[in-house]
Amino acid sequence: MDYGMVFVKILLVCLVGEFVIAEGLAVNWGTRASHPLPPDIVVKLMKDNGIDKVKLFEVVPEAMEALGNSGIQVMVGIPNELLAPLASSVRVAEDWVSQNVSSYISRYGVDVRYVAIGNEPFLKTYKDMFSGTIYPALENIQAALIKAGLGRQVKVTIPINADVYQTESGLPSGGDFRPDIHDLMMSIIKFLNDNGAPLTINIYPFLSLYADPHFPVDYAFFEGSAAPVVDGSITYTNVFEANYDTLIWALEKNGFPNIPVIVGEVGWPTDGDVNANKEYARRFNQGLLNRIIQNRGTPKRPSPAPDIYLFGLIDEDAKSIQPGNFERHWGIFYYDGSIKYPLNLGNNRNLTYAKGVKYLSRQWCVMRPDADLSDPNLPQSIDKACSYADCTSLGYGSSCGGLDVRGNASYAFNMFYQTANQQKGSCDQFFNLSVITNIDPSPSGSSCKYEIMIDTGRHEVARKPTTSSGSNTSSSILTMMLLLLPGLILKNFS
Ligand SMILES: *[C@@H]1O[C@H](CO)[C@@H](O)[C@H](O)[C@H]1NC(C)=O
Ligand SMILES: *[C@@H]1O[C@H](CO)[C@@H](O)[C@H](O)[C@H]1NC(C)=O
Ligand SMILES: *[C@@H]1O[C@H](CO)[C@@H](O)[C@H](O)[C@H]1NC(C)=O
Ligand SMILES: *[C@@H]1O[C@H](CO)[C@@H](O)[C@H](O)[C@H]1NC(C)=O
Ligand SMILES: *[C@@H]1O[C@H](CO)[C@@H](O)[C@H](O)[C@H]1NC(C)=O
Repeated sequence: MDYGMVFVKILLVCLVGEFVIAEGLAVNWGTRASHPLPPDIVVKLMKDNGIDKVKLFEVVPEAMEALGNSGIQVMVGIPNELLAPLASSVRVAEDWVSQNVSSYISRYGVDVRYVAIGNEPFLKTYKDMFSGTIYPALENIQAALIKAGLGRQVKVTIPINADVYQTESGLPSGGDFRPDIHDLMMSIIKFLNDNGAPLTINIYPFLSLYADPHFPVDYAFFEGSAAPVVDGSITYTNVFEANYDTLIWALEKNGFPNIPVIVGEVGWPTDGDVNANKEYARRFNQGLLNRIIQNRGTPKRPSPAPDIYLFGLIDEDAKSIQPGNFERHWGIFYYDGSIKYPLNLGNNRNLTYAKGVKYLSRQWCVMRPDADLSDPNLPQSIDKACSYADCTSLGYGSSCGGLDVRGNASYAFNMFYQTANQQKGSCDQFFNLSVITNIDPSPSGSSCKYEIMIDTGRHEVARKPTTSSGSNTSSSILTMMLLLLPGLILKNFS
């Protein structure tokens, strides 16, 4: 053989290796944050980490514009509240597609691939609220996409949560759809199948553990289990595969063995519950990433491997905590795009942090050292701070759950102060119980961190080309130091 051929072969292997890694990563980008990272920084963050598919829960114009010509494929969601109007007429659906899909494709070069209609519309807690509108909304959007000439490029789908199916036997092979929505699910799946569209399923092993204290912890993760589930010739060692295959069985049983099934959300939170921590999140997400990198399917459907959208990209401090305090901590990145724990993205490539993030000044609002812990105004001050800002790291088993009363109050005051952009006077709202300091109050040797908020105002200015030339050395060194700090600190705890 001539050496040229061998060289080409080696090159091809390398290229294909790279290709596999760069192809598979997909994430959810939620934007329920008090201080969202600027979309251009987020898009760069995704590209730096080889993420080439993103799911948005709704059309966020700034996010869509930043995704234009980025090479990232987009799934855009339609919130449940829009199902009723979209179901009411094709015209409404046509307007939606025109304003929220067509224009972004033609004007900004956004690579829209899917429209996700509704989000978990059959959650038991919603009762039947959306069961009358989901199917006509699906039909109307599909008709509107075809009319817009996008029928081939953009596929519809419906993200459902795992409680639409169940298994009487407790085994995946017993899978079938919930009797109360069986017929509706059949209509939906037939419609998707007829239109070459996938079904989307959200799977949350963390919630299995959260809901059931007796759930075998090992079974929530990927690397072997102390309590495997044997189903015929298949042995399941993790709930992710068992859950996915329960749906595949249900589909097969009802005559749709080949419809593609996307995993629309899966992940693990890092705070807000005893089982939500960096160690577990890293273990779960690395296990998941390894499967994605290896292009692995499940026992029942070994190939093709499903597209898997990680939930989520960045923490969202303004998300509803009705399901639990962990809701604001699903990100693989913190609110500022810094790294929580290392992840191997394949070929020993590590997760990298967001570049160009600007922060507020290095100062915190804490409880006055000379203020009295028995001050009658203290409880209401903490309540006030926490009803405005995010205090979900303070609960039992959370990253700042071990603080004493003074630490607690300081944490709450600081979150208020940072969320209020360190505005003048915002640290003076607690009956003279608080004071500004430039000494980091974060307890050493703990995972509890008193944060400094990102400076959205300075990002706005920086993005305007007319003002971007005035570089400021001292502040950029400060920004660099702050960017590096979280990474350095986190290494000690991982
Ligand atoms: C486009 O999507 C946004 C966000 O979901 C929504 O508020 C708006 O009404 C949509 N536009 C149309 C014309 O339906
Ligand atoms: C990735 O991170 C791990 C753990 O922090 C480290 O040991 C390793 O050297 C890093 N690899 C690269 C390529 O940076
Ligand atoms: C700190 O605050 C949290 C949340 O308000 C509360 O659950 C916890 O009991 C407090 N701890 C102390 C020591 O006051
Ligand atoms: C605030 O408290 C400090 C010490 O606790 C005291 O010296 C100061 O006078 C107080 N300020 C006001 C306006 O009450
Ligand atoms: C440069 O940054 C410092 C520190 O953030 C600030 O005090 C100063 O006003 C800045 N100068 C300019 C020209 O923006």
